[in-house]
Amino acid sequence: MSNAKKITIHTLREHKLAGQKFSMVAAYDATCAALIEQAGVEVILVGDSLGMVLQGNDSTLPVSVADIAYHTRCVSRGASRALIIGDLPFGSYHNREQTLANAVTLMQAGAHMVKLEGGHWLLDSIKAMCERGIPVCAHLGLTPQSVNTLGGFKVQGRDTDSAQVILSEARQVEAAGASLLVLECIPRALAATISATLSIPVIGIGAGADTDAQVLVLHDMLGMSRSSPRFVRNFLAENNDVQGALAAFNSAVIDGSFPASEHGFD
Ligand code: KIV
Repeated sequence: MSNAKKITIHTLREHKLAGQKFSMVAAYDATCAALIEQAGVEVILVGDSLGMVLQGNDSTLPVSVADIAYHTRCVSRGASRALIIGDLPFGSYHNREQTLANAVTLMQAGAHMVKLEGGHWLLDSIKAMCERGIPVCAHLGLTPQSVNTLGGFKVQGRDTDSAQVILSEARQVEAAGASLLVLECIPRALAATISATLSIPVIGIGAGADTDAQVLVLHDMLGMSRSSPRFVRNFLAENNDVQGALAAFNSAVIDGSFPASEHGFD
């Protein structure tokens, strides 16, 4: 695997131009990272979902930059080819200087890109990171770090006004320099419109089949999580082992059979 060509933002852009879907898995350790890239998954997200699936919290809010940096170091030791994204956790990007300092910490831990949740209020920080060599993945729709202002983990963008805001913020984060966009729990038609509108690859979770890529949390797709949201499919239940489950997820994303209509929202 170490001789294989490394995945970069150019690889993912070429996939979008060629209409070829790709997959991402949220994972947190070296052993799983190695299995994930051996299965053909091209992007690994060291997500703040670790606050729920590893630490047992009921939200992602308690996660620290040190937690993400630690797990990014673990993942980067296991993955030699995949593009690694480090998630900036709650409270770590409230202003431009704080964002830059914490993004540098994650890049020095082994991330190739950082992710952060939100739209218009982040444009200055996104631009500043890109100018300083830190690629950015934006995240819109259901942004779990805002669970308390959203009033729960709910589908976003169901009415015309909120859908317009998400579409407009997607355009703005791309214009500010974001290289990727995650769309979480929004109606499939809105996700399809955004994916067709933007030039950067759009990665969906609970956003229907018409995005350029799909992401799932490792523990969810292996049926290990305490709850199983509607957008999750248990790939281990249909396969003999973790490696088989990961390969099945990657193939199902590429051939368009995952997500099916029952995994999305209208
Ligand atoms: O933290 C995470 O794992 C995420 C994905 C669910 C997109 O943000």
